[in-house]
Amino acid sequence: MSELLVVENLTVTFPTARGPVDVVKDVSFTVGRDETVGIVGESGSGKSMTSLAVMGLLPKGARTRGSIRLDGTELLGRSDRELRRLRGERMSMIFQDPLSSLNPYYTVGLQIEEMYRAHRGTSRKAAREVAIAALAQVGLPEPERRVDHYPHQFSGGQRQRIMIAMALVCDPELLIADEPTTALDVTVQAQILRLLAELRRESGTGMMFITHDLAVISSIATRVLVMRRGEQVEYGTAEQVFAEPRHEYTRMLLESIPRIDDPVDDAVDGAVDDGVRS
Ligand SMILES: Nc1ncnc2c1ncn2[C@@H]1O[C@H](COP(=O)(O)OP(=O)(O)O)[C@@H](O)[C@H]1O
Ligand SMILES: [Mg+2]
Repeated sequence: MSELLVVENLTVTFPTARGPVDVVKDVSFTVGRDETVGIVGESGSGKSMTSLAVMGLLPKGARTRGSIRLDGTELLGRSDRELRRLRGERMSMIFQDPLSSLNPYYTVGLQIEEMYRAHRGTSRKAAREVAIAALAQVGLPEPERRVDHYPHQFSGGQRQRIMIAMALVCDPELLIADEPTTALDVTVQAQILRLLAELRRESGTGMMFITHDLAVISSIATRVLVMRRGEQVEYGTAEQVFAEPRHEYTRMLLESIPRIDDPVDDAVDGAVDDGVRS
């Protein structure tokens, strides 16, 4: 498995009134093509800062050290312009709350079309066909009609499907999913998880899957990085980490989940569908 993303000794520092604070400290991991790496840790452990560093989307004032290479190309220190080009095209991210990333004033179709056209420069008409196909691919019913609807006309689970469609429309090599199911009902969570796993497999995309829930990681990831207070406390194959956790903190996380080896498909058996995918 050739490495798609190589993160080495990543440190993210913020200036504060009490001096600089490292919110990510010396974190190293790799994501292979066609692989899901799970990043798990409690709230505030630096998971989002790690993903935003990869995307080049850290808040103003943040300083980075180390190396982040996508397919051999160093990302740290690149200009905003270069990073904008890479985002959407070669790497995309989906967030916990799809409403905050969708523009309420535009139809979902137009938003997917603009993402596509920004990178591919096709005609409106061609982009619209792409948007409809993308909505169909994420299991949205009646995509030809729904493409002209606004974000508020969809349920939370449907909006997350739309975000996934937008993230994947340019066929990126790397997808970062930052707690994509945290804001959803449990049954819808399982469906979104299954959809992501399916689409990732079909497209061969590498995925960074971030969650505070180790149970979710166990169903989706081949490698696991456990973070705590900005530090990497554990990193290894999912098998290793689940069977022989080295760190006391990981053992604690493991003990707090009832069952650790449910595959995704089992988790959704008998789940009530949110009405968009059978
Ligand atoms: N703009 C900022 N300035 C300083 N510290 C910040 C800023 N944004 C977030 N942090 C801190 O960075 C740490 C890591 O945050 P984050 O990566 O969002 O955690 P997680 O995603 O694991 O919940 C937290 O302790 C948070 O308080
Ligand atoms: Mg976060």
